[in-house]
Amino acid sequence: QLKLYGENYRPQFHFTPERNWMNDPNGLVFYKGQYHLFYQYNPFANVWGHMSWGHAVSKDLIHWKQLPVALEEENGIMIFSGSAVVDTKNSSGLGSIQNPPLVAIYTGSTDTLQTQNLAYSTDNGLQWAKYKSNPVLNENKKDFRDPNVFWYAPEKKWIMSLSYPTTHQIAFYSSVNLRDWKQVGIFGPAGDTTGVWECPDLMRVPIYDQPGSYKWVLLTSQNATMQYFVGNFDGKNFTSETPNGTTLKPDYGTDYYAAIAYHSNPIGKPVSIGWVNNWYYANQIPTYPWKGAASLPRTLQLKKINDVWQLIQQPVAALATLRKQPVIYANKKINKTTELLPFKGNVWEGEIIMQPATTGETGLQLAVGNGLALNISYNAAAKQLVINRNNTPDYFSAAFAARPTSIAPVRLLNNELKLQVFFDKSIVEVFVNNGEQVLTVQVFPAEENNGVALYSTGENALFKRVTFWPMKSIW
Ligand code: FRU
Repeated sequence: QLKLYGENYRPQFHFTPERNWMNDPNGLVFYKGQYHLFYQYNPFANVWGHMSWGHAVSKDLIHWKQLPVALEEENGIMIFSGSAVVDTKNSSGLGSIQNPPLVAIYTGSTDTLQTQNLAYSTDNGLQWAKYKSNPVLNENKKDFRDPNVFWYAPEKKWIMSLSYPTTHQIAFYSSVNLRDWKQVGIFGPAGDTTGVWECPDLMRVPIYDQPGSYKWVLLTSQNATMQYFVGNFDGKNFTSETPNGTTLKPDYGTDYYAAIAYHSNPIGKPVSIGWVNNWYYANQIPTYPWKGAASLPRTLQLKKINDVWQLIQQPVAALATLRKQPVIYANKKINKTTELLPFKGNVWEGEIIMQPATTGETGLQLAVGNGLALNISYNAAAKQLVINRNNTPDYFSAAFAARPTSIAPVRLLNNELKLQVFFDKSIVEVFVNNGEQVLTVQVFPAEENNGVALYSTGENALFKRVTFWPMKSIW
């Protein structure tokens, strides 16, 4: 019997529930010095089912403390995804001005009906009561979910983004009391409509390098991948400025879904968290006694790249407090070869600054051992960052084996590419060029396959500086 958090594949600096299944992050809210993370949770088993809201809190977004389940399935109505707000003025009447309630807005789900509902807490989020006159929004639909609410200050009203999954639309509703809602606008179909649309999050995001300037971003999730649109919101409608035919993704990896953000928080930028898994094989991943993880929290900003507004995502600064003594390699030329480094590990952060070869692939391998490795490389011809898990264990599910590559369009800046790589036992997150692109993937290597190598299939690649920080465990 392995100690909890010492099990095979168990992430050491990503949040995972002690036991059992989790999926989407829910109800991300900062209140009285604490970040609350709720999440889709099955209290009874290590597979999807009996959906409830699990609960954890953190002061720094890195160290988490697990609390009792906040909202439980009741009378066969599951608690699906949603959001939470601080009702400062007690507009809902569910608390008082002196003690404003935290209000959760979630989807109640049965096989035939999805409705929007409230629950509230007046003890800083520890205990939750369901509102007695639920549901607060019912359109008699089978697919109608994932309410995400925020305070729209210019018109002093609450706005809810909600998804009509099957028609690939996000509807906007407004309310002055969180109880009575009317539809004011609708967006979509647009962009990627290959899968059902879920988990919308509409928020104001600051522009990088222009303090005080903002644009609006709408995040959506579809099937097993996400997209976002950048534009404006006028209190009723969201208008996208993302060019038609361009699909922007907050993450190009196989394993990032249902991300939403803490809109207001002391960092002063929205901070998003996603679910690290993929519906095509989520229930089969070989982890026990938990399944599913929260991604690293990322700050969101906007920048124009190639004339298109795009997200810049960076891991929250507090992560750096987990770094141990670094191991550094400087000015390494790699010429059509693979060089195993002395450094080994499966819980680390790496920073790779390289001039890739002008042909072929240049990058790094991790989880190296027994002839296996995960390849993370820049493809010069395609101008893409590619994560390839073809040469990693994939025995547990054909659906996992069927998704071997993750591909992001990337650019070189002065012939250089910068990768910030987090490897945490079974999770790999790669931030490219200080957050211009991000890729998150799962990999399930044997514990001893923890070598790291640099490689290039082209000529004279230069790794200017490669730094590895072994990371402390948060558990
Ligand atoms: C997204 C999702 C949501 C739903 C929840 C159910 O992953 O399908 O649309 O609310 O998961 O667990």
